[in-house]
Amino acid sequence: MTTFTKGTPVIVADGLSKSFGDTRAVQDVSFEAWAGSVFALLGPNGAGKTTTINMLTTLLPIDDGRASVAGFDLSRRPDAVRRVIGLAGQAAAVDEKLTARENLDLFGRLYRIPKAERKLRVEELIEGFRMGDYADRTVGTCSGGQRRRLDVVASLIAKPLALFLDEPTTGLDPRSRVELWDEIRGLADRGTAVVLTTQYLEEADRLADYILIMDEGRAVVTGTARELKDDLKRDVLEVHFTSGEELERAVKALGGFADEYGANPAAKQLTIPVTGGSASSLKLLRRIEDSGIPVVDFQYRRPTLDDVFLTHTYSATA
Ligand SMILES: Nc1ncnc2c1ncn2[C@@H]1O[C@H](COP(=O)(O)OP(=O)(O)OP(=O)(O)O)[C@@H](O)[C@H]1O
Ligand SMILES: [Mg+2]
Repeated sequence: MTTFTKGTPVIVADGLSKSFGDTRAVQDVSFEAWAGSVFALLGPNGAGKTTTINMLTTLLPIDDGRASVAGFDLSRRPDAVRRVIGLAGQAAAVDEKLTARENLDLFGRLYRIPKAERKLRVEELIEGFRMGDYADRTVGTCSGGQRRRLDVVASLIAKPLALFLDEPTTGLDPRSRVELWDEIRGLADRGTAVVLTTQYLEEADRLADYILIMDEGRAVVTGTARELKDDLKRDVLEVHFTSGEELERAVKALGGFADEYGANPAAKQLTIPVTGGSASSLKLLRRIEDSGIPVVDFQYRRPTLDDVFLTHTYSATA
């Protein structure tokens, strides 16, 4: 099998578009994902992430644009593409009536891995991903997290050059999530091009070398996590109040500096974008104080990926 040097493009999408009736699910999306890296596709529900992945994994025909994986054109060589990719889709692909071990063997057969090699590979995966405890239980009796893990592990059976993981850690407990992050990072470090979607922005921050944020089918912004945060060109002041009423009074007192999008009544917290550094923050805090509104606590911080996401995605804040 061809190998790809780290940093060379393995997945190339150029102007991908897909509509379902009147719904323009994906519109003119282009990106490259490189060998040895993790590429994160982020966006609110319905942004077009799964549709993009389904096109790139040959599950959905492309309406417009073109794409290739490992040099194979998706429309002309779909069979060749299927041989070099792994996919853990958003919906589970494993058979509930089989055990984890049988499922892995079945996936190996689908990839036409010869029997002896398949047996070794299945054992290697069960051991490597610490699935020994439940490898011989029918999947129907496994926990949601164990099934999700099996789904991800099954996508690795043929040592793919390009791995697509659609929300791989949804439903996993914090420890399993961190373990899976380590595994995904390890796969990328060994040369796989990983395309990942997630709603956990901390996950993208930790794992992704490169990020593309989609909204309503379009690519809205792209860059490394650091670039995306720096591009906001502002910091964040978070202020905590004793009650929702005082929070509301503070929003009024700050006039144009704060708005209802930054107000979280349940947490009694106001998030204010600050462009003028700590001097501006002090001015804002003083204005709150001068209005006689007590401040319980405040934090002045650099933007997180959540701030980036909320800035660029309309549907997330609407
Ligand atoms: N098979 C389908 N038929 C009709 N509409 C579809 C189909 N699949 C997706 N869509 C629509 O396309 C748009 C994009 O959906 P998609 O599943 O790609 O979003 P997503 O970004 O993966 O969202 P989520 O975060 O909820 O998984 C949505 O408006 C969705 O309703
Ligand atoms: Mg999806």
